[in-house]
This record gives sequence, C-alpha cells and structure tokens, in this order.
Amino acid sequence: MDARRLQYLKALDIDVWRRREGAEPVVESVPIRAAVTIAAVAGETAANPDWTALESAVRGCTLCALSESRTQTVFGVGDRTAQWMVIGEAPGADEDREGEPFVGRAGQLLTSMLKAMGLEREQVFIANILKCRPPGNRDPKPEEVAHCMPYLKQQIELVNPRLILCVGRIAAQSLLETDTPIGKLRGQLHRLPGTERPVVVTYHPAYLLRSPGEKRKAWADLVFAMNTAEGLAPSA
Ligand code: URA
Repeated sequence: MDARRLQYLKALDIDVWRRREGAEPVVESVPIRAAVTIAAVAGETAANPDWTALESAVRGCTLCALSESRTQTVFGVGDRTAQWMVIGEAPGADEDREGEPFVGRAGQLLTSMLKAMGLEREQVFIANILKCRPPGNRDPKPEEVAHCMPYLKQQIELVNPRLILCVGRIAAQSLLETDTPIGKLRGQLHRLPGTERPVVVTYHPAYLLRSPGEKRKAWADLVFAMNTAEGLAPSA
C-alpha cells in the first residue's frame, strides 16, 4: 500500500494490519487498483442547457415546506462528468449556510474517505436526496423525498457516473426504494431502481464520527466499491 494512502487511512483512524507470514490476506492486501484516479474529463458543461435549467428549477423550488425554512438550496457540487457520484441525505446547518453539500465535520470525513480511495473531492459529483435542510436536521419526510427525488434522478442521468456511492441509511433506503436495514444493504452491488446503474452503500460519515469503531467496515465498503467500479465498463 502506498505511503500516501496509508497516511489517509491513519487519518481516518483505521488501523492497517500487515500480513503475517502465512496468514490470510487482510485489508492491507486488498488491491486498491481502482484508485480510480479517473482524471476529470475536460470540457466541463457549465453552459449545458440541461444543467442550467435543472439548477434554476432547484433554486426556485417551492414544492414542499422546506423551501420556507431554507437559507438556500444545496444543488450539488463536483465534476459533472465524474465516474463516481456520492449521494447523502440532506443539507445540515453548514451546508444550508454555504450552499454546498458535505462541508461540515461529516463532509471533512467524507473528503478523507475519498482521499483514501485515491479520489479528490473535485473528481466526484456530490449531491443529496434533499436539496433543502430539514429543520433541526430531522429525517426527511416521505413527501419531501418524493418531491426532490426527480431532481436527483436528473442529476444522475446528466452525470452518468460509473458507480453511485450512497452514504447512510436514509440516502440508501430512499434511493433504492427499500426499508432494508443498512447493515444488510452494505457489501452488495445494487441497481438504481428501473435502471442498470450500479449503487454501493456505506455508512454515513456523521455516523462514523459518532461510532468510529465502524470505520473499518466503511473502509471495507469503499474497497468493495473501488473493486466493483474497476470491474465495470466505463459509463458510455
Ligand atoms: N449530511 C448529508 O447527508 N449531506 C450533507 O450535505 C451534509 C451532511
């Protein structure tokens, strides 16, 4: 494992076990080939009319009551031609203030997780199920998810990622239209309902901040995601 990745794993507080002579391979030996430093493809589509219309629709959205309490909508950020898309739950206070997803403490951990995968934050596209902050960070209501999901689905179509990494129970259950517990959703390749688009699920970084002992499992999920992405054809 290269020194930089080791350093990032240490920064995540993930112990990296070394293989003893004759012992079974452990995390350290998992190939991180998918370090998928898939370089951001040039030709950003800032002037793409589809993106422009979508951004404007989200900015002006009043489909649910969250539009009354938000400071601003949080559209999503990153490479609009990314091979990886990260999907979280909803903006928190920091995101509502700054207009960007995952900028608080959980966001910093997400950035470290991506770095451990060999990805810069700018190389992925990051979005949430909800574009507006639920007051007091309560769970999204089903009707809020129902109103907001079409925006996310359009983002997914436009980005056309090779793989979606879904972080947290709420994001996973909403996206996969299931109530299966997150513990059972982890470690499997899912498909975005109605499509062939691959989805992998891991814990939410905010949960990992509260339960650092679970970081090892999250790292296993990320390794699974990397190896899965590597085995998939690039998105057309
Ligand atoms: N948690 C999320 O799910 N999304 C954010 O943008 C921030 C925190």
